[in-house]
Amino acid sequence: MTTNSPVFCAIDRADLSGALLLARSLHTSPIGGLKVGLEFMTANGPSGVRSIVDLGLPVFLDLKFHDIPNTVAGAVRAAADLGVTMLTLHLQGGPAMLWAAADAVKDLGPRRPLLLGVSVLTSMDDKDLTTIGVESTTEAQVLRLAGLARKTGMDGMICSPREIAPIREAFGQSLKLVVPGIRPAGSAAGDQKRTMTPGEAVKAGADYLVIGRPITGAGSPRAAAHAIHEEIDAARLAAA
Ligand code: C5P
Repeated sequence: MTTNSPVFCAIDRADLSGALLLARSLHTSPIGGLKVGLEFMTANGPSGVRSIVDLGLPVFLDLKFHDIPNTVAGAVRAAADLGVTMLTLHLQGGPAMLWAAADAVKDLGPRRPLLLGVSVLTSMDDKDLTTIGVESTTEAQVLRLAGLARKTGMDGMICSPREIAPIREAFGQSLKLVVPGIRPAGSAAGDQKRTMTPGEAVKAGADYLVIGRPITGAGSPRAAAHAIHEEIDAARLAAA
């Protein structure tokens, strides 16, 4: 990767050969890295993740750990051994779990992956929060969890594009903001509910964008990645 692209392309598929083919075809397109998650890991295990890491792009392991502190600390150590650049854990796991995770990687030096706290999934809205007993808006809940991420040594957090501005207002640049729910104009939202275009999210202040189906489901993923890159460049230019 030679670009300064903020885009991590989500390779959400189970077949290793298809995932590698897709990842290789994106290798020379303007993306900043690849993201693999639950579907890929469940089907292909750690050796599958290593084969994506071996391609040479930064890899974001998105397994959204959420368990007791001891278990999450062990999982974070095991994930770091795979050579990934960033990984996720649920902020709703609470302070003891988050502190244990931060402690587990603190001595890894340059091999230490960034720890990113997942706030409220971008597929959820205010109504969904009510159904699980959270009586606040998604924005208020994400801000509360951002405060927790700050206190517990997280490097950053996952939020929807709509919460970038309020988080920046409350916490400045102290957290890296990694943003899924990105939909170029005209592309299908699918199960995502809190979305913005790549250009809007960059203008709003996202550090990294996570984009899956708008790239991987396109007739030409490389062409889709290029079009997104151009939109991001234009947004950066307009903001400069
Ligand atoms: O295909 P799409 O662009 O919707 O992919 C978004 C990716 O970001 C998926 O891999 C999904 O697991 C991940 N993600 C998300 N919302 C979060 C955290 C991660 O959509 N809050």
